[in-house]
Amino acid sequence: MDRQFDRLLPVPDDPRADLYRAMRHAAIGGGKRLRPLLVFATARLFGVDRSCTARAALAVECVHVYSLIHDDLPAMDDDDLRRGKPTVHRAFDESTAVLAGDCLHALAFEVLADEATHPDPFVRSELVAALAHAAGPAGMAGGQMMDLRAESQSFDLPTVTRLQAMKTGALIGCAVESGAILGRLTIEGRRGLRGYAHDLGLAFQIADDILDATGDEESVGKRLRKDGEQGKETFLTLLGLDRAREQAQILVRQAVEHLQHYGEEADLLREIAGFVLERDR
Ligand code: IPE
Ligand code: IPE
Ligand code: MG
Ligand code: MG
Ligand code: MG
Repeated sequence: MDRQFDRLLPVPDDPRADLYRAMRHAAIGGGKRLRPLLVFATARLFGVDRSCTARAALAVECVHVYSLIHDDLPAMDDDDLRRGKPTVHRAFDESTAVLAGDCLHALAFEVLADEATHPDPFVRSELVAALAHAAGPAGMAGGQMMDLRAESQSFDLPTVTRLQAMKTGALIGCAVESGAILGRLTIEGRRGLRGYAHDLGLAFQIADDILDATGDEESVGKRLRKDGEQGKETFLTLLGLDRAREQAQILVRQAVEHLQHYGEEADLLREIAGFVLERDR
């Protein structure tokens, strides 16, 4: 991912230089790269060409990085640390951060639409549609809107579950879906993978909420104890720590069960599910 971002984002010698530097600051050197890994782990079930997979993985990571830049802005979570570095609006300024996010968002679709991503235009358009749906009001951005409301409104468990499935789950789902699209799976054939991704996405966000409450800032690389400070309704406020942990374990077990029709070629996906639960960053 680092190499691809480096190649795609050379800093120009003109007044846009800081815009490119800001994109590079956010995209290069850091992050778990979970979503790209999910694209690879899924695509390899179907023997997809690695360079096609890498481009689809890059596109999903572009949207993820853009979402982090905007999530950290003063208008949203107002954070000063991300991936162990100052956030983009701290290292540069707010307007540059807004634009760097916008550009990474656009770059994602430019990458997908390029012929190098897949020779079949139908596959490319399916990738574009899946990512657009996952990023928009029915996915990440819609979930972020609900998340902002969760500071002032009290939500019940089904509503928080829906919020988290959109805010975090949609893009994780899109990563797995992109692997399946590249593998030319029928909609029917995607059912198990979709179930896996859905449960994994929820478990991942519960783990994020648990880390926010109990993690170590140094290893997580971002400010913690924010959800409580902001009085945000999360899985933790609704379930408490022990039940939230239990729920995440159940979800990870369920996620793995959705892969029962796959053999050892799906072991990486199974290991990722385990990692989501045990991660300390
Ligand atoms: C953080 O995502 C934001 C959420 C959706 C919870 P990650 O925990 O995947 O962040 P990076 O990519 O590793 O920095
Ligand atoms: C943000 O969720 C999810 C995104 C869509 C970026 P959080 O606000 O909980 O993510 P962190 O904890 O700042 O990484
Ligand atoms: Mg947030
Ligand atoms: Mg945040
Ligand atoms: Mg969080």
